[in-house]
Order: sequence, then structure tokens, then C-alpha cells
Amino acid sequence: MNSDTTNLYLVGFMGTGKSTVGRLVAKQMNFNFLDSDQEIEHVQGKPVSAIFVEQGEAAFRKLEREFVEHGHPEQGCVVACGGGLVVPPGMLELLRSRGIVICMHAPIETIIDRILHTTHRPLLQVEDPAKRLRELYAQREPLYRRTGTMVLTDSRPLKEIAAHVLRVYRQEVAQFKK
Ligand code: S3P
Repeated sequence: MNSDTTNLYLVGFMGTGKSTVGRLVAKQMNFNFLDSDQEIEHVQGKPVSAIFVEQGEAAFRKLEREFVEHGHPEQGCVVACGGGLVVPPGMLELLRSRGIVICMHAPIETIIDRILHTTHRPLLQVEDPAKRLRELYAQREPLYRRTGTMVLTDSRPLKEIAAHVLRVYRQEVAQFKK
């Protein structure tokens, strides 16, 4: 296995910038960019919100696991992972067995500003989405902190964030054992 093309997985809460950062980093590395939500939507032929409504969250988590296990190339990819992908037991270990895991991070107030008014996220289809976001953030924060190096995506230019991610990737890939 060629460590120069080891996959990079960006994890972290909704709205931390995984896709925006991932797209730029992939371009700079000359890797393919994949977004786990989009890949699942493509295979299932429906949006994530419909999967949640019709099949439930547990079914979606299974699809996320399938995507990680069999649904993407083993090398040469930057993958922006849906915010809950690393939550089920074993998923973080699975990602780590496949590549470098870096966590995007932003304060909850920034996240609320960024995504409160978006409409495609099924977990926010509730009466008080800001409250829901705060609860989920509090629940998941300890887990994200264990995932790997955290890169702050708040109050600094995208170019700088991408450079930081690349630096971490290069340091960690040197130690990555296949
Ligand atoms: C989810 C995050 C979403 C998407 C789904 C569930 C979560 O992805 O996978 O709505 O559980 O945090 P983003 O992090 O890209 O918004």
C-alpha cells in the first residue's frame, strides 16, 4: 500500500466545514473528493432526509458503515464524513484502519450561525433546532475530541485551514502503518 495516497477522512460536527475544507485539500493533494452523504444519496437514489424519514436513523448509520467498508476507493480520496458517521461504536476504529482521521472543529455558536437556517439536515427538522444542536454538540463533543487532531475552522481563512490540515496529514501519514 502506497502511503503517499493514504485516504484522508475529515470528521466533526455538522457545519464545521468538512466539505468546504475537504474539497480544497483534495484539489491541492490531487486526490478525489467524496462526501459520504452525497455518495449514499447517489447509491440510494434519494436524499439523506428521505432516508431518515422512510427508513430511520439506524438504517442510515448502516449505510454509512457500508460506505466506509465497501463504498469508496481505498486510496487517493479525501472523504468528508457526515457528522454522525463516527458516533456508532467501532466506526472511528474502522476509519483509522483505512486512513488518516482529522477532526474539524468550531464553537457551537458558529455552527448555529452557519446551519440554523439550512433545510436539508433531518436532525434539525424539530421545533427548536438551536436547542437540538446544542444538545447534540454537548453529547458528541467528547467523542470528536477523541477522534484525532482537531483543526479549528472558525475565524481564519479557508486557505490557512487547508494548509493546517495538509500539514497534519503529512505528519500523520509518515507514521501510518498498513
Ligand atoms: C448528521 C450529519 C449530516 C448528515 C445527516 C446526519 C449527523 O452530515 O450525515 O444529516 O448525525 O450529525 P453533515 O455533517 O455533512 O451535515
